[in-house]
Amino acid sequence: MTFLLTGVTGQVGSIVARNLLDRGHRVRALVRDPGAAAARLGTDIEYVRGDLEDPATLPAALKGVDAAYLATAPSPEMTRQEANFIEAAAGTGLPRLVALGVIGTDPSVPIFKFHQDIEAKITASGIPATLLRPAGFYSSFLFMAKMIQAGVLPSAAGDGGLAWVDHADVAGVATAVLLDGSRHVGQVVEITGPVALTTDDVAAALERELGHPVAHQRVDERTLQVELASFGLPGWLVDSFLGQQRLTRAGRLSTVTSTVENVLGRPPRTFDQWLAENKGAFA
Ligand SMILES: NC(=O)c1ccc[n+]([C@@H]2O[C@H](COP(=O)([O-])OP(=O)(O)OC[C@H]3O[C@@H](n4cnc5c(N)ncnc54)[C@H](OP(=O)(O)O)[C@@H]3O)[C@@H](O)[C@H]2O)c1
Repeated sequence: MTFLLTGVTGQVGSIVARNLLDRGHRVRALVRDPGAAAARLGTDIEYVRGDLEDPATLPAALKGVDAAYLATAPSPEMTRQEANFIEAAAGTGLPRLVALGVIGTDPSVPIFKFHQDIEAKITASGIPATLLRPAGFYSSFLFMAKMIQAGVLPSAAGDGGLAWVDHADVAGVATAVLLDGSRHVGQVVEITGPVALTTDDVAAALERELGHPVAHQRVDERTLQVELASFGLPGWLVDSFLGQQRLTRAGRLSTVTSTVENVLGRPPRTFDQWLAENKGAFA
């Protein structure tokens, strides 16, 4: 089978590509810079130059593929970018689409709203599709590496838990769904890790693995907002982060699903496993 991947240089897409190649499938990738992508991911992938911002570049990449994986970088532009792809896919009769979304649906959180709009567009397009909705990735903590190094983990999530997941498991599920024919078509697939972790849990795991104190610094949303904005983060990202913390505090992102176990036949990877492999980034 031939699969078209977008977001192939991204965290999830790069693993999906490797998984598909390892199973002997053809992988075509829509990329903005084929040279850079090949240098990073190798030459077993067929690279097609394209940009989700430029609809004219999309139909050629979609020609003759059995299924496509849709993902792009999180940003306010993602809604337009993915809409361009969905329109091109509908126009070329794409047989099947697997789209990477997010588990939250509360429209007050900007990143959740972007994904809700994209999912609505996919549904309206009539393309046979599977909507993947993963929880937050463990790798999100890499963005706090400097603070964690300094021994603090600021949070407005209180004692709420979030069912963080390893993005490699998300890629595993995405690969299985791509390979499963029509078994998951029409489904929303929520993907979480094995347990909802509170910020206390995360801080304790960091302390254990890194061997130095990491304190859960409880802050209110306003303090966190000022702190995040001082790093130069754009407003939509600050608001998304705060919204995620607010919903976590309210216990609304703590649901654990059995998707990884059901689809991959093994438990989801734990935060400790991910941390053991990535602790160098916090050193
Ligand atoms: N991080 C989390 O905790 C989390 C949790 C749940 C869901 N998600 C969702 O996961 C998705 C991101 O997936 P990811 O983390 O695997 O990706 P990523 O690491 O953020 O990489 C983004 C990918 O999109 C590509 N891209 C960006 N703009 C493009 C354009 N105009 N045309 C073509 N390609 C473009 C990038 O290619 P270049 O190499 O050209 O830049 C890159 O391959 C988002 O929808 C996000 O909301 C993230």
